[in-house]
Amino acid sequence: MAVFVTHSEQETVELGIKMGKLLEAGDIVLLYGDLGAGKTVLTRGLVQGLGAKDVVTSPTYTLMHRYEGRVPIYHFDLYRLSEPDEVLDLGYEEFFYGDGVSIVEWPQRLEYLCPEEYVRVKIEIVGDGKRKIMVDAVGGRYSRFEKELRNI
Ligand SMILES: Nc1ncnc2c1ncn2[C@@H]1O[C@H](COP(=O)(O)OP(=O)(O)O)[C@@H](O)[C@H]1O
Ligand SMILES: [Mg+2]
Repeated sequence: MAVFVTHSEQETVELGIKMGKLLEAGDIVLLYGDLGAGKTVLTRGLVQGLGAKDVVTSPTYTLMHRYEGRVPIYHFDLYRLSEPDEVLDLGYEEFFYGDGVSIVEWPQRLEYLCPEEYVRVKIEIVGDGKRKIMVDAVGGRYSRFEKELRNI
């Protein structure tokens, strides 16, 4: 596991940019952390690191936003999902297991639909402006990502 501590929103964005550069088509990033932890802020960096110029806003009501980087980026916020089957209506398989990178806030809501392999990011609020960001890879597909992460 790689552990980072950031001291401002901007530092979290910068970490996201570095991580985003390591992502490839088909990758899934699950973001764990309380409300206000910094999941959307980190996503802003990931999206930039993936080469998109779009302004990232929280897809709380629409469940997903799509951005165009060097690959398509699907940013989910599942906070309002009442049952996992609702992502089936969204056609989530096409995004998760397709040609782009998926980034998911509140992945707990997926329950039995949680993918088997993914990059896991946990963000903890440790103080005013301070965040502990823990990153590890679940599944062999991401061994390359984990290795590169050590050089960040
Ligand atoms: N080190 C930090 N990293 C990220 N966000 C921070 C940090 N310090 C303070 N913040 C603030 O915390 C909030 C995080 O919001 P957001 O990313 O929307 O949270 P989430 O998506 O996890 O609910 C923002 O208001 C941001 O300015
Ligand atoms: Mg958010």
